[in-house]
Amino acid sequence: MPYANTIAVILAAGKGTRMHSDKPKVLQQLLGETMLSYVAATAGAVASRVLTVVGHGEELLRAAHPELAQDFVLQAEQKGTGHALQVAWDQVRASGATHCLVLNGDAPLVAPEDLEELLSTAREGADIAFLTAVLPDAGAFGRVLRGPDGEVTGIVEAKDFDPAVHGEDTGEVNTGLFCLAVAAVENALFSLTSANRAGEYYITDLVGLGVTSGLDVHALKREAALDLLGVNSPLELSQAEERLRAATAQKLLESGVLLHQPEGVVVGPRAVVEPGAEITGPCRVLGATRICRGAKVRAFCHLTDSVLEPGCEVREFCHLEGAHLFPGCIAGPYARLRPGAEVRENARVGNFVEMKKSVLGPGAKASHLTYLGDTSVGAGANIGAGTITCNYDGTHKHRTEIGAGAFIGSNTALVAPVRVGENALVGAGSVITKNVPDNALGISRSKQVNLEGRGKKP
Ligand code: UD1
Ligand code: CA
Repeated sequence: MPYANTIAVILAAGKGTRMHSDKPKVLQQLLGETMLSYVAATAGAVASRVLTVVGHGEELLRAAHPELAQDFVLQAEQKGTGHALQVAWDQVRASGATHCLVLNGDAPLVAPEDLEELLSTAREGADIAFLTAVLPDAGAFGRVLRGPDGEVTGIVEAKDFDPAVHGEDTGEVNTGLFCLAVAAVENALFSLTSANRAGEYYITDLVGLGVTSGLDVHALKREAALDLLGVNSPLELSQAEERLRAATAQKLLESGVLLHQPEGVVVGPRAVVEPGAEITGPCRVLGATRICRGAKVRAFCHLTDSVLEPGCEVREFCHLEGAHLFPGCIAGPYARLRPGAEVRENARVGNFVEMKKSVLGPGAKASHLTYLGDTSVGAGANIGAGTITCNYDGTHKHRTEIGAGAFIGSNTALVAPVRVGENALVGAGSVITKNVPDNALGISRSKQVNLEGRGKKP
C-alpha cells in the first residue's frame, strides 16, 4: 500500500551519453519494458503520487508513457540532479506530502522492498535518509564520506573525489535513493551550488549541507546491492537485464512452470505464466502475455501481449503479437499471428501462415502458406495452401467471411469484401470476387488447353 504522506520524484531528464543512443536513457528496455516503467512501478508501490522530471527527449517520453505524462515536470536544461529536484519542488510542496522519495530513472532493478527501511527511517524522524552500497569496484559512483565514529558527513562524486582530501576510498557509494523530509530539507535544497568539476547542481551535496546545518542525516548501508545502482552503459544494461531474466526464470521454475533450457527463457515483468505451463528456450514471452496451465511454447518463439489458453501449443519459430489461442489449438511451426488473431478450440494454423484481425473457428485449419486478414473462418473449414485474403484495396480494408465447413482450394485469392458460404467449395487457383452461396462450388480460372506434340522433344 502506498503511503499517503509520501510523494516520489523520479529523475529522468538526462541524456545518458554513455548509452550511445539517440533515445533518452530511461526509454531503454529490459525484458521489453522501459527502465522508466520499472522505476515508476516501484515508486507507485510506496508513494501516493509520482512526479517524473523529464527533459531530454521529452516528447518521446510522453509518447511512450502517456499514463505518467500528467505528472511530468519539465527540466528544460539539465543542470544536474539537484537542479532536477529543485524544478519539481513546487509540486512536491503543493502535494502536501511530508516526505519526498527520490529515485533515479536509470535504476530499474530497485524493488519496493528496498525502500521500506528508508521509509521507516524517515518516518522515525530522519530529515535525510539515503541508501548506500559497498562495491568492490566503486567506479563512477558517488563516494560516501564518514567521520571518525562512522557518522556520515557527505557524498563526493567520483570526479571530485581525492583521497588526499577525502581520505581512503572505502568503496561505499551512493545509490541515489533518498527519502527527504519536505519541510526540513528545503533550505539546503535551494543552497546547492555548482562548484564542482561538472559545474552541476548535485542532489548529493544535500547530505553535506544537511549535516553542517544540523539536520538528522542517515546513510543506510547495504552490502550486496548491485541491483540498487543505475544502468549507465550498454554493458550495465545487459548485465542488469540478465540478472532480472535469470531471477524471473528461477521464480517460474520454483512456482511449477516447466522450463527447458531456462537460460534462454526471457519472460517480461508483466507476463503471467501459470504453474503447469511449459516453455522451451530460447524464447521470449513479453508484454501482457498470459500462458495458462498445460499450454506449451516451443523454442525460438517471440510472444507479446498474447493469451495461450490451457492445452494449446505454439510450435517452434512462431511470432505472436496480440494473439489469442484457445484450448487445444496448435500454431506453427513458423506461424505469424498479429493483433486480433484468434485461433479457436482445436484449430490449426501451420507454417508460413499469417493472421491479422481474423478468427479461425473451432477445428478449422489453415495449414500452409496463407494470409488471413480481417477474416472470419467458421468451424471446421479448411483453408488450402496459398490462400490469400485480398483485404486491402489501397485505401480501405474489407472483410472476408468463410462459413463453417467450407473448403477453400489451394492458391485461391479471396477479394474482399466477399463471403464464402457454409459447406461451400472453392476450386483451386480461383480468384473469388463474388459471394459463393452455401453448399455451392465457386470456381474462377481459365480453362486448360492441351496442345498435342508441343511438349519437350524427346
Ligand atoms: C548519480 C549520483 C551518484 C550515484 C549514482 C547512482 C549525483 C550527482 N550523482 O550519479 O552519487 O552514485 O547516481 O546511480 O546525483 N538527471 C536529471 N537531470 C539532470 C541530471 C540527471 O533528471 O540534470 C537524471 C538522469 O536522467 C538519471 C539520474 O538523474 O536518471 C541520475 O543522473 P546520472 O547522470 O545518471 O548520475 P550518475 O552519474 O549516475
Ligand atoms: Ca546514473
